[in-house]
Amino acid sequence: MDAKTITVDELQKKLDKHEHVFILDVRPTDQRNEWKIADSVHVDAYKQLNDGDDTALDVVEVPKDATVVTVCAAGKTSVLASKLLQRKGVPAYSLKGGMKAWNYAWNTAAIAFSNGVRVIQVRRAAKGILSYIVGTAGEAVVIDASLDPDVYLRLANDNGWTIKYVMDTHIHADYVSRTRELANASGAKHVMIDNAKVSFEYEGIPNRGSISFGNEQIEFIHTPGHTWESTTFKLGYSAVFTGDTLFVDSVGRPDLKADLAEGVEKAKALYKSLRQLLSLNADIVVLPAHTSNAISFDNMLIGESIIKVKSRIKMIHLTEAEFLEYISSKAPPAPPNYLTIATINKNGSYDGHVLADLEAGGNHCAIA
Ligand SMILES: [Fe+2]
Repeated sequence: MDAKTITVDELQKKLDKHEHVFILDVRPTDQRNEWKIADSVHVDAYKQLNDGDDTALDVVEVPKDATVVTVCAAGKTSVLASKLLQRKGVPAYSLKGGMKAWNYAWNTAAIAFSNGVRVIQVRRAAKGILSYIVGTAGEAVVIDASLDPDVYLRLANDNGWTIKYVMDTHIHADYVSRTRELANASGAKHVMIDNAKVSFEYEGIPNRGSISFGNEQIEFIHTPGHTWESTTFKLGYSAVFTGDTLFVDSVGRPDLKADLAEGVEKAKALYKSLRQLLSLNADIVVLPAHTSNAISFDNMLIGESIIKVKSRIKMIHLTEAEFLEYISSKAPPAPPNYLTIATINKNGSYDGHVLADLEAGGNHCAIA
């Protein structure tokens, strides 16, 4: 029996159209806990399937009118699962390339502000990586590009925008920034806070300096802590792009790429930066660079007003000493390959690396 397969692109299109899809994840539980497809169903059938056990999926109730897709780490065991379901009369597909390929699936959500500025949140569904294209009056900027430049060029084109500036909130350690590539592909100016220690050319913007596009401005606010160059981009009085400094329900970890003493200095800086951000207008929308969960194809924006974020994150109400204590007790495991990825992002080139291998795995950016 031939295996029926479905590509990431095909599955993404079905989910974008809100078709009824039943996604069955057959990986071992520890892999599932690391990262997953949102709204998928899990059965730890990995060993049974590989042992040829025909009862491996008997516990699964497959809905009648749904497209059934099986998924594993790289698309091999999921073929066994789809074939088993086919033998039982269910026309199931196996997701080609598994989670490693699904890492590049994406969807969007959008928010429009009263002055005609539209923000499209471009979300990598598996790892919860958020990038943005912000447009008004024919011009746009792209923040924290993490996908092929073509994705952003198409979104700009669909909205009648020319990309004028591209920029990162910081030197990322959990995915390879595509900002430089996008600058080359679009002709946009690559800007960054002027203290960023990278080895490629960019136009430096000082703390509290700004860039203009269409009829709007973005101000650069230096908010060190997660990394020393971490910057928050403030879009008028509408929104702040907080990178990995402040999430909607947690804060960015300050401990990566630092020894114990530097980790404490970074945590102190983070505390100050968070205070600064939370003193902004209560109704400004916080748009972060990450969310902790896999993202559904629900087009619901991941963003909250400053006042809501303030009430949600208890640790930001601690004293500095209590905050430092809390942060040091809660650091999650480091993201896979973070030193290699940070070096790539400093050098501005990933030549010789396979992104799908480097970036595979879950997200470990936040301290909740
Ligand atoms: Fe980060």
